Amino acid sequence: MTASDFRPGLEGVPATQSAISDIDGQRGILSYRGYSIAELAAHSSFLETAYLLIWGELPDPETLRTFQHDVQMHRRVSFRIRDMLKCFPAGGHPMDALQASAASLGLFYANRALDNPDYIRGAVIRLLAKIPTMLAAFQLIRMGHDPIQPRDDLPYASNFLYMLTEREPDPLAARIFDSCLVLHAEHTLNASTFSARVTASTLTDPYAVVASAVGTLAGPLHGGANEDVLLMLEEIGTVDGVEAYLDRAIAEKRKVMGFGHREYRVKDPRATILQGLAEELFDRFGHDEMYDVARRLEAVAAERLGPKGIYPNVDFYSGLVYRKLGIPTDLFTPVFALARAAGWLAHWKEQLGANRIYRPTQIYCGAAGRAWQPPEARVAKNGDLTG
Ligand code: ACO
Repeated sequence: MTASDFRPGLEGVPATQSAISDIDGQRGILSYRGYSIAELAAHSSFLETAYLLIWGELPDPETLRTFQHDVQMHRRVSFRIRDMLKCFPAGGHPMDALQASAASLGLFYANRALDNPDYIRGAVIRLLAKIPTMLAAFQLIRMGHDPIQPRDDLPYASNFLYMLTEREPDPLAARIFDSCLVLHAEHTLNASTFSARVTASTLTDPYAVVASAVGTLAGPLHGGANEDVLLMLEEIGTVDGVEAYLDRAIAEKRKVMGFGHREYRVKDPRATILQGLAEELFDRFGHDEMYDVARRLEAVAAERLGPKGIYPNVDFYSGLVYRKLGIPTDLFTPVFALARAAGWLAHWKEQLGANRIYRPTQIYCGAAGRAWQPPEARVAKNGDLTG
């Protein structure tokens, strides 16, 4: 093994076999279990899609009803979890609250039985059911309100928006939000999913798997970019400010948030669908000037970054949609996590089906053969190494 075998970021290195989703990055096509993302976003609900991802087939009507019912029955969380959320600092990032509360479920549901299909199903249902409740509870608590109970008469996406905003959402807004969840549910072996699979491969519990993936998704190069896109659009401010901003970013070698993807050389198909959803929302609920800035940025960036294969990714338009739905900016990434939990759980189940612990190798590039010396004999090198 030599340094030439090293692929930074594991680019192009297959780290697993998977039948869950597939990307054609040259043609801009994403499919879940062989179904195109465009078809699923147009016709399937998030829970139907989650079932497809996790168990491999679209559910028949009876199976779907049972699955929806079981998720609905597990939406409530223990008062101890609500009390725990009340102890979190209100100024903390909701991704950290989500990571901690997802991990805490392992304390409440401790009897791990990874070879029992009923345990797998129960854990999937519990996580899909409780993540929205915990997230909405943290949001209300940090605003000084008491969390509200889930509404059993509302479907998954509407219920989340209801718990978050304390108002029953408009049906169009709920439908669009549900489509957003479908679009974010899975995306092959990205950083957080890889993290989920590595954690799963140790045969730990599914709550630790999801918590580790949430921590990985939080970074600005991954899910955290959706938050940064909106901040960037606001910094640009107007359509006229776009060219100067892009000139500066390119000159300073700064990444333009919401652009670029390891897998795509064209516009991310999810960005195209999200753009359509954003337009539907603006037609119904009023325009957002930041959308004009975003479109101008996409057009100018196509000339400047397009030749390098850098185009809008999923995070570019999602923030504009979430903002119109009344979701606070720092909840954009947690909402992404809520959806992606379906993909992580699908990968958890798949990993368990053919498990071998992840243990890659490294190319050692440090010192060798050094002789230990007592402190008084050591010559100070490079200043203080503890800094
Ligand atoms: N703006 C400007 N230039 C970019 C961008 C960007 N957004 N993305 C990549 N590039 C350039 C790099 O500067 C580099 O150029 P160089 O070869 O001249 O040095 C080249 O494209 C390759 O970039 P890498 O960072 O090596 O590409 P990588 O595949 O490692 O990174 C990533 C992909 C992290 C998504 C990157 O494009 C990026 O940082 N984008 C901005 C953050 C973002 O939007 N993240 C969300 C991604 S989607 C998701 O995770 C849900």
